[in-house]
Amino acid sequence: MKVLEVRDLHVNVEGKEILKGINLDLFEGKVHVVMGPNGAGKSTLTNTIMGHPKYEISKGTISFKGEVINDLKADERARRGIFMSFQNPKEVAGVTVSNFIRASRMSITGQKESLMDFQEELHEKMKDLSMDKVYADRYLNVGFSGGEKKKTEILQMAMLNPSFVMLDETDSGLDIDAVRIVSKNIEKFRNQNKTILIITHHKAILSRIKPDYVHVLIDGNIVKTSDASLVTKIQQEGYSWIKQEV
Ligand SMILES: Nc1ncnc2c1ncn2[C@@H]1O[C@H](COP(=O)(O)OP(=O)(O)O)[C@@H](O)[C@H]1O
Ligand SMILES: [Mg+2]
Repeated sequence: MKVLEVRDLHVNVEGKEILKGINLDLFEGKVHVVMGPNGAGKSTLTNTIMGHPKYEISKGTISFKGEVINDLKADERARRGIFMSFQNPKEVAGVTVSNFIRASRMSITGQKESLMDFQEELHEKMKDLSMDKVYADRYLNVGFSGGEKKKTEILQMAMLNPSFVMLDETDSGLDIDAVRIVSKNIEKFRNQNKTILIITHHKAILSRIKPDYVHVLIDGNIVKTSDASLVTKIQQEGYSWIKQEV
């Protein structure tokens, strides 16, 4: 089943056109990877799908499960099951990891749950990520290392249990052990009902999470879609050969 359909998407950021007619189909139960040079528009694409107000759609549509979501606010998209992990997670002083995730979850489900049940589940999932549970009571990302911030994003994903996730360079800046732990948790999350979009520059995360589709984004357009073999070719040869193909 097609979960996300992007058609002729043009997006401006601060008056400049960054996405120039993106077409992309994402399928249920599949892992899609988007690769591309720095500045190509990968984060712009995920932020636009999530509904960040800074990204202005000048043309085209984004449909999620058959519904055009262009005009929905980010929290309404989250309630429909869309999640994104930020390339550069923000620090939020005054709000603990635990309170932040609990509030997000209540806003998505509309249901209250007992603090004890919540914390039990949170601590269990932190253990899966090799995170010390003291981090639950620290302010969100404040003073966290790059790796701890990325793990906290995966923790949010696991706790919110969205059906469609976009992971923007979640593996960048992680040491080898952290890449392994993060990959393992994404793989654990993966199932036939989940749709996963991974943005990455690196092969390591994809040795554990085998992608079904690889899309190449260059200068605001998806210029190529292929299978997992494309990852190796890009690692060896870069993007210039693809540019020539267009
Ligand atoms: N919030 C923003 N403010 C200003 N410029 C932005 C913003 N987001 C993206 N851009 C610009 O859009 C282009 C694409 O950026 P981005 O989507 O982050 O690329 P990628 O993730 O592929 O490296 C870059 O030129 C970047 O400077
Ligand atoms: Mg980016």
